Amino acid sequence: MNFLEYNQIPIKEVKLYNEKTIASFITDSDSNFDEKTVKSFGEEWLKFNSFSPKEINVAGSQYFDIIDNKLLNATSVVLDLGCGSGRWTKFVASKVKLVEAIDPSTAIFSAASLNENETNVRITQASVSNIPFDDETFDFVICLGVLHHIPNTQQALIDVVKKIKKGGAILLYLYYNLDNRGILYKMIFRISTVFRLVISKLPHQLKKFCCDCIAVMVYLPLVIVTRGLYKIFGTKNWIKKIPLSYYADKSFNIIRNDALDRFGTPLEQRFSKIDIEKMMQSCGLSELKFSENAPYWHVVGKKING
Ligand SMILES: C[S@@+](CC[C@H](N)C(=O)[O-])C[C@H]1O[C@@H](n2cnc3c(N)ncnc32)[C@H](O)[C@@H]1O
Repeated sequence: MNFLEYNQIPIKEVKLYNEKTIASFITDSDSNFDEKTVKSFGEEWLKFNSFSPKEINVAGSQYFDIIDNKLLNATSVVLDLGCGSGRWTKFVASKVKLVEAIDPSTAIFSAASLNENETNVRITQASVSNIPFDDETFDFVICLGVLHHIPNTQQALIDVVKKIKKGGAILLYLYYNLDNRGILYKMIFRISTVFRLVISKLPHQLKKFCCDCIAVMVYLPLVIVTRGLYKIFGTKNWIKKIPLSYYADKSFNIIRNDALDRFGTPLEQRFSKIDIEKMMQSCGLSELKFSENAPYWHVVGKKING
Protein backbone atom coordinates (compact mmCIF):
# COMPACT_ATOMS: atom_id res chain seq x y z
CA MET A 1 0.00 0.00 0.00
CA ASN A 2 1.30 3.46 -0.92
CA PHE A 3 0.77 5.66 2.10
CA LEU A 4 0.87 9.46 1.89
CA GLU A 5 4.17 11.29 1.97
CA TYR A 6 4.98 13.03 5.23
CA ASN A 7 5.53 16.76 4.68
CA GLN A 8 8.45 16.84 7.15
CA ILE A 9 11.17 14.59 8.47
CA PRO A 10 10.20 12.53 11.55
CA ILE A 11 11.79 13.60 14.84
CA LYS A 12 12.38 9.95 15.71
CA GLU A 13 11.27 6.40 14.97
CA VAL A 14 9.48 4.50 17.74
CA LYS A 15 10.13 0.74 17.78
CA LEU A 16 7.19 -1.65 18.08
CA TYR A 17 7.33 -5.10 19.69
CA ASN A 18 7.50 -6.70 16.21
CA GLU A 19 10.56 -4.66 15.13
CA LYS A 20 8.36 -2.44 12.93
CA THR A 21 8.65 1.29 13.58
CA ILE A 22 6.31 4.25 13.88
CA ALA A 23 7.37 7.75 12.79
CA SER A 24 7.09 10.32 15.55
CA PHE A 25 6.56 14.06 15.04
CA ILE A 26 6.14 15.12 18.67
CA THR A 27 7.98 18.35 19.46
CA ASP A 28 8.65 20.08 22.80
CA SER A 29 7.22 23.32 21.48
CA ASP A 30 3.59 22.17 21.03
CA SER A 31 1.48 24.79 22.81
CA ASN A 32 -1.91 23.17 22.12
CA PHE A 33 -1.20 19.97 24.00
CA ASP A 34 -1.97 19.01 27.60
CA GLU A 35 0.87 16.79 28.71
CA LYS A 36 -0.90 15.23 31.73
CA THR A 37 -3.96 14.40 29.62
CA VAL A 38 -1.90 12.81 26.84
CA LYS A 39 0.04 10.75 29.41
CA SER A 40 -3.21 9.64 31.03
CA PHE A 41 -4.62 8.55 27.65
CA GLY A 42 -1.44 6.66 26.85
CA GLU A 43 -1.92 4.69 30.07
CA GLU A 44 -5.65 4.23 29.42
CA TRP A 45 -5.24 2.84 25.91
CA LEU A 46 -2.38 0.55 26.88
CA LYS A 47 -4.80 -0.99 29.39
CA PHE A 48 -7.84 -1.05 27.10
CA ASN A 49 -6.17 -2.30 23.97
CA SER A 50 -8.42 -5.01 22.70
CA PHE A 51 -11.98 -4.77 21.46
CA SER A 52 -14.06 -7.52 19.91
CA PRO A 53 -15.49 -6.93 16.41
CA LYS A 54 -18.94 -6.75 18.06
CA GLU A 55 -17.84 -4.04 20.54
CA ILE A 56 -16.34 -1.98 17.72
CA ASN A 57 -19.39 -2.44 15.49
CA VAL A 58 -22.01 -1.58 18.11
CA ALA A 59 -20.32 1.68 19.17
CA GLY A 60 -19.00 2.44 15.66
CA SER A 61 -22.48 2.25 14.13
CA GLN A 62 -23.70 4.79 16.69
CA TYR A 63 -20.95 7.32 15.85
CA PHE A 64 -21.23 6.75 12.09
CA ASP A 65 -25.07 6.85 11.97
CA ILE A 66 -24.93 10.19 10.10
CA ILE A 67 -22.37 9.07 7.51
CA ASP A 68 -23.46 7.85 4.12
CA ASN A 69 -21.64 6.21 1.25
CA LYS A 70 -21.16 9.54 -0.56
CA LEU A 71 -19.02 10.84 2.31
CA LEU A 72 -17.07 7.67 3.07
CA ASN A 73 -16.43 4.94 0.51
CA ALA A 74 -13.81 2.77 -1.15
CA THR A 75 -12.04 5.81 -2.68
CA SER A 76 -11.73 7.75 0.59
CA VAL A 77 -8.35 8.77 2.00
CA VAL A 78 -9.01 9.07 5.73
CA LEU A 79 -7.29 10.70 8.70
CA ASP A 80 -8.17 9.36 12.16
CA LEU A 81 -7.08 12.19 14.43
CA GLY A 82 -6.45 11.20 18.06
CA CYS A 83 -7.00 7.55 17.16
CA GLY A 84 -6.37 6.24 20.72
CA SER A 85 -6.68 2.44 20.61
CA GLY A 86 -7.33 2.63 16.85
CA ARG A 87 -10.85 1.17 17.14
CA TRP A 88 -12.46 3.61 14.65
CA THR A 89 -9.53 3.13 12.28
CA LYS A 90 -10.32 -0.56 12.42
CA PHE A 91 -14.05 0.12 12.01
CA VAL A 92 -13.53 1.99 8.70
CA ALA A 93 -10.39 0.26 7.34
CA SER A 94 -12.24 -2.28 5.19
CA LYS A 95 -14.62 0.38 3.81
CA VAL A 96 -12.06 2.95 2.55
CA LYS A 97 -8.91 3.31 0.45
CA LEU A 98 -6.47 4.08 3.25
CA VAL A 99 -6.33 5.39 6.80
CA GLU A 100 -3.58 7.51 8.30
CA ALA A 101 -4.15 7.34 12.07
CA ILE A 102 -2.34 9.72 14.41
CA ASP A 103 -2.11 10.12 18.16
CA PRO A 104 0.50 11.86 20.34
CA SER A 105 0.36 9.33 23.19
CA THR A 106 1.70 5.82 23.76
CA ALA A 107 -1.74 4.67 22.55
CA ILE A 108 0.03 4.28 19.19
CA PHE A 109 1.27 0.88 20.41
CA SER A 110 -2.30 -0.32 20.99
CA ALA A 111 -3.52 1.19 17.71
CA ALA A 112 -0.71 -0.54 15.82
CA SER A 113 -1.48 -3.86 17.46
CA LEU A 114 -5.28 -3.65 16.93
CA ASN A 115 -4.73 -2.80 13.24
CA GLU A 116 -1.73 -5.01 12.51
CA ASN A 117 -3.66 -7.02 9.90
CA GLU A 118 -5.10 -3.98 8.13
CA THR A 119 -2.81 -3.44 5.14
CA ASN A 120 -4.24 0.02 4.33
CA VAL A 121 -3.62 1.49 7.80
CA ARG A 122 -0.57 3.38 9.04
CA ILE A 123 -0.14 4.71 12.57
CA THR A 124 1.89 7.85 13.26
CA GLN A 125 2.75 9.61 16.51
CA ALA A 126 1.70 13.23 16.08
CA SER A 127 -0.43 15.97 17.59
CA VAL A 128 -3.16 18.06 15.97
CA SER A 129 -0.97 21.18 15.88
CA ASN A 130 1.63 19.40 13.75
CA ILE A 131 -0.22 16.97 11.46
CA PRO A 132 2.60 15.78 9.17
CA PHE A 133 0.65 15.83 5.91
CA ASP A 134 0.05 18.55 3.32
CA ASP A 135 -3.04 20.72 3.52
CA GLU A 136 -6.11 19.55 1.55
CA THR A 137 -5.03 15.91 1.59
CA PHE A 138 -7.90 14.00 3.16
CA ASP A 139 -11.40 13.14 1.91
CA PHE A 140 -12.60 12.34 5.39
CA VAL A 141 -11.44 13.04 8.95
CA ILE A 142 -12.56 11.04 11.97
CA CYS A 143 -12.14 13.03 15.15
CA LEU A 144 -14.06 11.32 17.92
CA GLY A 145 -13.70 12.38 21.52
CA VAL A 146 -10.43 14.25 21.00
CA LEU A 147 -10.66 18.02 20.66
CA HIS A 148 -12.38 18.58 24.03
CA HIS A 149 -9.19 17.25 25.66
CA ILE A 150 -7.06 19.92 23.99
CA PRO A 151 -6.48 23.37 25.53
CA ASN A 152 -7.62 25.38 22.49
CA THR A 153 -10.36 23.37 20.78
CA GLN A 154 -11.17 26.02 18.17
CA GLN A 155 -7.51 26.31 17.06
CA ALA A 156 -7.25 22.52 16.88
CA LEU A 157 -10.33 22.40 14.65
CA ILE A 158 -8.83 25.06 12.37
CA ASP A 159 -5.61 23.00 12.17
CA VAL A 160 -7.37 19.79 11.21
CA VAL A 161 -9.87 21.32 8.77
CA LYS A 162 -6.88 22.65 6.77
CA LYS A 163 -5.97 19.05 6.01
CA ILE A 164 -9.36 18.27 4.42
CA LYS A 165 -9.81 18.49 0.65
CA LYS A 166 -12.52 20.75 -0.74
CA GLY A 167 -15.67 18.63 -0.80
CA GLY A 168 -14.33 16.45 2.03
CA ALA A 169 -15.89 16.04 5.47
CA ILE A 170 -15.17 15.63 9.16
CA LEU A 171 -17.02 13.46 11.66
CA LEU A 172 -16.59 15.23 14.97
CA TYR A 173 -17.62 14.20 18.46
CA LEU A 174 -17.29 16.78 21.21
CA TYR A 175 -18.60 16.33 24.74
CA TYR A 176 -21.91 18.15 25.12
CA ASN A 177 -22.56 20.52 27.99
CA LEU A 178 -25.85 18.74 28.71
CA ASP A 179 -27.73 21.44 26.78
CA ASN A 180 -30.46 18.90 25.91
CA ARG A 181 -30.89 17.63 29.49
CA GLY A 182 -32.99 18.64 32.49
CA ILE A 183 -31.89 20.21 35.76
CA LEU A 184 -31.57 16.94 37.71
CA TYR A 185 -29.26 15.45 35.10
CA LYS A 186 -27.13 18.60 35.18
CA MET A 187 -26.88 18.43 38.99
CA ILE A 188 -25.75 14.79 38.90
CA PHE A 189 -23.19 15.76 36.29
CA ARG A 190 -21.79 18.58 38.46
CA ILE A 191 -21.30 16.13 41.34
CA SER A 192 -19.52 13.70 39.00
CA THR A 193 -17.19 16.49 37.89
CA VAL A 194 -16.01 16.99 41.48
CA PHE A 195 -15.11 13.28 41.57
CA ARG A 196 -13.27 13.61 38.24
CA LEU A 197 -11.22 16.56 39.47
CA VAL A 198 -10.03 14.49 42.46
CA ILE A 199 -9.65 11.07 40.77
CA SER A 200 -7.80 12.37 37.70
CA LYS A 201 -4.98 13.61 39.95
CA LEU A 202 -4.38 10.21 41.60
CA PRO A 203 -1.45 7.92 40.68
CA HIS A 204 -2.33 5.65 37.76
CA GLN A 205 -3.04 2.39 39.67
CA LEU A 206 -5.22 4.11 42.26
CA LYS A 207 -7.01 6.04 39.53
CA LYS A 208 -7.74 2.79 37.69
CA PHE A 209 -9.03 1.20 40.88
CA CYS A 210 -11.37 4.12 41.66
CA CYS A 211 -12.71 4.15 38.09
CA ASP A 212 -13.33 0.39 38.22
CA CYS A 213 -15.27 0.89 41.48
CA ILE A 214 -17.37 3.59 39.78
CA ALA A 215 -17.95 1.26 36.83
CA VAL A 216 -19.23 -1.49 39.15
CA MET A 217 -21.13 0.61 41.69
CA VAL A 218 -22.57 3.42 39.54
CA TYR A 219 -22.55 2.47 35.85
CA LEU A 220 -23.46 -1.21 36.17
CA PRO A 221 -26.61 -0.84 38.37
CA LEU A 222 -28.01 1.86 36.06
CA VAL A 223 -27.15 -0.22 33.00
CA ILE A 224 -28.88 -3.30 34.47
CA VAL A 225 -32.03 -1.28 35.28
CA THR A 226 -32.02 0.25 31.77
CA ARG A 227 -31.58 -3.15 30.12
CA GLY A 228 -34.53 -4.47 32.15
CA LEU A 229 -36.73 -1.50 31.17
CA TYR A 230 -35.85 -1.93 27.48
CA LYS A 231 -36.85 -5.60 27.77
CA ILE A 232 -40.20 -4.77 29.38
CA PHE A 233 -41.20 -1.61 27.48
CA GLY A 234 -39.14 -1.76 24.28
CA THR A 235 -37.05 1.15 22.97
CA LYS A 236 -38.85 4.13 24.49
CA ASN A 237 -37.51 7.70 24.55
CA TRP A 238 -38.11 8.12 28.29
CA ILE A 239 -35.71 5.23 28.99
CA LYS A 240 -33.00 7.01 26.98
CA LYS A 241 -33.25 9.89 29.48
CA ILE A 242 -31.93 7.73 32.31
CA PRO A 243 -28.29 8.63 33.06
CA LEU A 244 -25.85 6.14 31.49
CA SER A 245 -28.63 4.40 29.50
CA TYR A 246 -26.26 4.79 26.52
CA TYR A 247 -24.36 1.82 27.96
CA ALA A 248 -27.34 -0.57 27.88
CA ASP A 249 -25.96 -2.35 24.79
CA LYS A 250 -22.28 -1.98 25.70
CA SER A 251 -19.98 -4.62 27.17
CA PHE A 252 -18.46 -4.31 30.65
CA ASN A 253 -15.08 -3.76 28.96
CA ILE A 254 -16.43 -0.62 27.25
CA ILE A 255 -18.10 0.53 30.48
CA ARG A 256 -14.81 0.24 32.44
CA ASN A 257 -12.94 1.97 29.64
CA ASP A 258 -15.40 4.86 29.55
CA ALA A 259 -15.48 5.21 33.34
CA LEU A 260 -11.68 5.62 33.24
CA ASP A 261 -12.01 8.05 30.33
CA ARG A 262 -14.67 10.09 32.13
CA PHE A 263 -13.17 10.19 35.63
CA GLY A 264 -9.47 9.76 34.93
CA THR A 265 -8.84 12.53 32.41
CA PRO A 266 -7.42 15.81 33.73
CA LEU A 267 -8.63 18.13 30.94
CA GLU A 268 -12.12 18.01 29.48
CA GLN A 269 -14.18 20.80 28.00
CA ARG A 270 -17.86 20.79 27.12
CA PHE A 271 -19.81 22.51 24.38
CA SER A 272 -23.41 23.21 23.48
CA LYS A 273 -24.77 22.37 20.04
CA ILE A 274 -24.70 26.09 19.25
CA ASP A 275 -21.04 26.43 20.35
CA ILE A 276 -20.11 23.53 18.07
CA GLU A 277 -22.09 24.95 15.15
CA LYS A 278 -20.30 28.30 15.49
CA MET A 279 -16.86 26.70 15.81
CA MET A 280 -17.39 24.51 12.75
CA GLN A 281 -18.82 27.31 10.62
CA SER A 282 -15.95 29.63 11.51
CA CYS A 283 -13.53 26.97 10.16
CA GLY A 284 -15.34 26.93 6.80
CA LEU A 285 -17.45 23.85 7.45
CA SER A 286 -21.05 23.77 6.26
CA GLU A 287 -23.94 21.36 5.65
CA LEU A 288 -23.66 20.42 9.32
CA LYS A 289 -25.69 17.40 10.36
CA PHE A 290 -26.00 16.60 14.05
CA SER A 291 -27.07 13.14 15.12
CA GLU A 292 -30.30 13.00 17.12
CA ASN A 293 -28.81 10.11 19.06
CA ALA A 294 -26.17 9.68 21.77
CA PRO A 295 -23.28 10.15 22.16
CA TYR A 296 -23.87 13.90 22.17
CA TRP A 297 -22.84 15.79 20.14
CA HIS A 298 -21.58 14.00 17.14
CA VAL A 299 -21.86 15.87 13.91
CA VAL A 300 -20.61 15.76 10.36
CA GLY A 301 -19.61 18.89 8.44
CA LYS A 302 -18.43 19.42 4.87
CA LYS A 303 -15.64 21.67 3.64
CA ILE A 304 -17.16 23.33 0.61
CA ASN A 305 -14.63 26.14 0.05
CA GLY A 306 -10.89 26.23 0.74
C1 LIG B 1 -10.91 9.94 24.51
S1 LIG B 1 -9.53 9.49 23.55
C2 LIG B 1 -10.36 9.08 22.04
C3 LIG B 1 -9.63 8.07 21.23
C4 LIG B 1 -10.37 7.57 19.99
N1 LIG B 1 -10.68 8.64 19.09
C5 LIG B 1 -11.63 6.84 20.41
O1 LIG B 1 -12.71 7.45 20.38
O2 LIG B 1 -11.55 5.68 20.78
C6 LIG B 1 -8.74 11.01 23.16
C7 LIG B 1 -7.47 10.85 22.35
O3 LIG B 1 -7.01 12.16 21.98
C8 LIG B 1 -5.62 12.13 21.97
N2 LIG B 1 -5.07 13.49 22.06
C9 LIG B 1 -4.86 14.23 23.17
N3 LIG B 1 -4.25 15.39 22.85
C10 LIG B 1 -4.09 15.39 21.50
C11 LIG B 1 -3.51 16.28 20.57
N4 LIG B 1 -2.95 17.42 20.97
N5 LIG B 1 -3.51 15.92 19.26
C12 LIG B 1 -4.08 14.77 18.85
N6 LIG B 1 -4.63 13.87 19.69
C13 LIG B 1 -4.64 14.17 21.00
C14 LIG B 1 -5.27 11.28 23.19
O4 LIG B 1 -3.95 10.78 23.17
C15 LIG B 1 -6.34 10.21 23.13
O5 LIG B 1 -5.90 9.03 22.51
